[in-house]
Amino acid sequence: PNVLAMSVPTGILLSLATIGIGWVVYDLLCRSPLGNSDTGLMLVLYGVLVFIAWGLTHLFTGRAAFLHLGAITATIMSANVFMVIIPNQKIVVADLIAGRKPDPKYGKIAKQRSLHNNYLTLPVLFLMLSNHYPLAFGTEFNWVIASLVFTIGVLIRHYFNTMHARKGNPTWTWLAAAVLFVIIIWLSTVPKVLTGEVKASSAAQVYVASAHFPAVRDTVLGRCSMCHAREPSYEGIYHAPKGVMLDTDAGIAEQAREIYLQAGRSHAMPPANVTHITDKERALLVAWFEQAGK
Ligand code: HEC
Repeated sequence: PNVLAMSVPTGILLSLATIGIGWVVYDLLCRSPLGNSDTGLMLVLYGVLVFIAWGLTHLFTGRAAFLHLGAITATIMSANVFMVIIPNQKIVVADLIAGRKPDPKYGKIAKQRSLHNNYLTLPVLFLMLSNHYPLAFGTEFNWVIASLVFTIGVLIRHYFNTMHARKGNPTWTWLAAAVLFVIIIWLSTVPKVLTGEVKASSAAQVYVASAHFPAVRDTVLGRCSMCHAREPSYEGIYHAPKGVMLDTDAGIAEQAREIYLQAGRSHAMPPANVTHITDKERALLVAWFEQAGK
């Protein structure tokens, strides 16, 4: 479904359903026989998480997919506390008060859920803040990036858990986290090479071929593409205004004439010059269009 074309109530329903289903699936898996093995359960849950991340990016825009992944994770964490950890504690305490020997399973289950919460803390923070970072959510491999962030979160927590339990100093986790971090940086910038960027039409090729183009691209990316992109990052802008997308070479070339008119010859864009384009940059846009058009 195209969420952008969805009515608000349908959107909210879809949103709540995604979050609810996330918790139910997680809880069922924990209660299944898989739950007897901490490591086995963790691996399966991770697989499910990657699948959810992938699925969400097909259901929502990247920004919304990350926020939903964050909401699912945060819901699991609070439901763990209120629906499993605290109730189990109450059973154990009641048994102790009544002089009965509490069933050890309650403590074991609560401990497993606390461990999950512990591992999820850092990724959930990242996902909640992710909406400010288009390089993370607005790229082809955003779901891989989200999955790696969960791994990094576990690695960092594992380091502190081990250290606080005085069981050693697993510095390898830092190295592994650093390597994953570099992969994330690469995934957020390079993949255009892998996915093959859409080429400008032959008529627009002259604008890409122009000697001015590298400077024009820098100007447009710096002054326009925060609004004019598939996923704008400018506060309050949710769709590329008038469908004008200036975040790729092809997009810029196809719109050469409009860029020339709106930002070169006139000062219509950026609106109220919010992004502080300079007169020199406007002159560059004019020179680029007029010379390439000859
Ligand atoms: C702060 C967000 C923002 C920035 C930055 C911005 N624009 Fe726009 N742009 C808009 C909005 C909003 C509209 C729709 C205006 C309207 O409906 O009249 C628009 C419309 C346009 C249009 C279509 C005009 C039309 O009437 O069809 C073009 C072309 C355009 N912008 C080019 C640019 C260029 C080039 C830059 C950079 C130099 C730029 N914009 C920077 C928000 C922005």
